[in-house]
Amino acid sequence: MQNIQYYHDAFVKHLETYITPKEPCSLYEPIHYILQLGGKRLRPILTLMTSEIFGSSYQKALSAALSVEVFHNFSLVHDDIMDDAPLRRGKETVHEKWDINTGILSGDAMLIMAYQLFENYEPHVFQGLAKLFSKTALEVCEGQQYDVDFETRDDVTVPEYLKMIEYKTAVLVGASMKMGAIVAEASEACQNGIYAFGKNLGIAFQLQDDYLDAFGDPETFGKQIGGDIIENKKTYLYLKALEYLNDNDRKQLEHLYSISPTDPTDKIETVKQYFISSGSAEATKTKIQDYTQMAYEVLDDLKISDAHKVGLKAFGDMLMNRDV
Ligand code: IPE
Ligand code: IPE
Ligand code: MG
Ligand code: MG
Ligand code: MG
Repeated sequence: MQNIQYYHDAFVKHLETYITPKEPCSLYEPIHYILQLGGKRLRPILTLMTSEIFGSSYQKALSAALSVEVFHNFSLVHDDIMDDAPLRRGKETVHEKWDINTGILSGDAMLIMAYQLFENYEPHVFQGLAKLFSKTALEVCEGQQYDVDFETRDDVTVPEYLKMIEYKTAVLVGASMKMGAIVAEASEACQNGIYAFGKNLGIAFQLQDDYLDAFGDPETFGKQIGGDIIENKKTYLYLKALEYLNDNDRKQLEHLYSISPTDPTDKIETVKQYFISSGSAEATKTKIQDYTQMAYEVLDDLKISDAHKVGLKAFGDMLMNRDV
């Protein structure tokens, strides 16, 4: 197994060969724009790493890794429309730079391109990848719908929130790793074990994303700080604050989550203060550690070398401590 940077660079090199100008430009330019906008490339790195952990080469997993990244970027293009987000990776979102219709169709094309990449595999590997992909993609849609439904509900519970982030985010992290295992033709037990590791890590990852959405550094985070607060997202930060605050403060916070001021600056600042004073910001940090720890416990039972376990834990630590 190589280090994270090695897989990152190998992946980006492969991605560059995939991006060639095509007609109509109005369909493909936005696709190439979002794919070349950078990003951490976490999911494809995990696919490549996992393929090697289970005894194959990362080269064999490049198409699967690319598929995962194309799908991820498709989901971001549509997510940014749904969340009315102006910024992605420090640049304009696709629907801002072009328009909403462009975002919809370019996104649709990316979803198909992601699926098409499995054609590079032999029938039995193709089938395994396609089956996992279809299940995962549908779950992501379900998670995204819950996320939007929760915006206008005032009775969302913590278990409902956790299920929602498992679907919208964590299953894809799990699937990225399972795809590496499928390409390497690892045993079913290994495939399921690495999926469970990735899924727990993915839940920690989305909790951290929610934390950074409120408390991240606007210079490095690359997204609009407070976007979730503007959209009244029922995050763990919000749900725990409701639980911890006294009646008066809870009513204030609920009120703030029922209004959409044209200038959201004050709303964002006041809500963030509640997140801190209630202890929900700290509780979120603890929850991130809990899910990361659960991921590590799954690793203990997995039949891979200790060196590989150390490598995967280093990846988890890096995610937990990220500020991007
Ligand atoms: C953003 O994912 C969407 C979430 C599931 C939180 P990333 O944080 O992996 O985005 P990029 O690809 O690095 O920009
Ligand atoms: C994104 O959740 C999940 C998917 C894109 C499927 P968010 O809405 O929190 O992601 P960001 O913060 O916009 O990247
Ligand atoms: Mg979003
Ligand atoms: Mg969203
Ligand atoms: Mg977010």
